[in-house]
Amino acid sequence: MNDSSGDAGREEYDVTLEWPDGRSRTLDVRSRESVLNAALREGLRLPYDCRKGTCTTCVGRVVAVADDAVDPASAMDHRRAPRALDPDDLADGYALLCIALPRADCRVAVGPTVRSELGDSPWGR
Ligand code: FES
Repeated sequence: MNDSSGDAGREEYDVTLEWPDGRSRTLDVRSRESVLNAALREGLRLPYDCRKGTCTTCVGRVVAVADDAVDPASAMDHRRAPRALDPDDLADGYALLCIALPRADCRVAVGPTVRSELGDSPWGR
């Protein structure tokens, strides 16, 4: 469990991944760790390819944030430019989990449905 002293300086965040079939899994994601790395560290298999933010294989979508004052679009930073997402995607809460750094406890939809929402190729949009 995380401390409750506010988001600044937090050591880790609770990120709950949710699949369309109803499964979910909560990860303790360290403050400088990507969601994908946390998942792999905890033995959870998530799809990925480039690990550089240039494809959408790892995409998830923030659907809720524990703190109602935080917009889902602000729940994740990216450690580098998420080139496979456009500004509208980011505003809609999409995040590239290979480079996504949580900044709030949140719930993230994952799976092929989320990826299909973006279309097949980020380069063709
Ligand atoms: S694995 Fe390619 S953007 Fe994350």
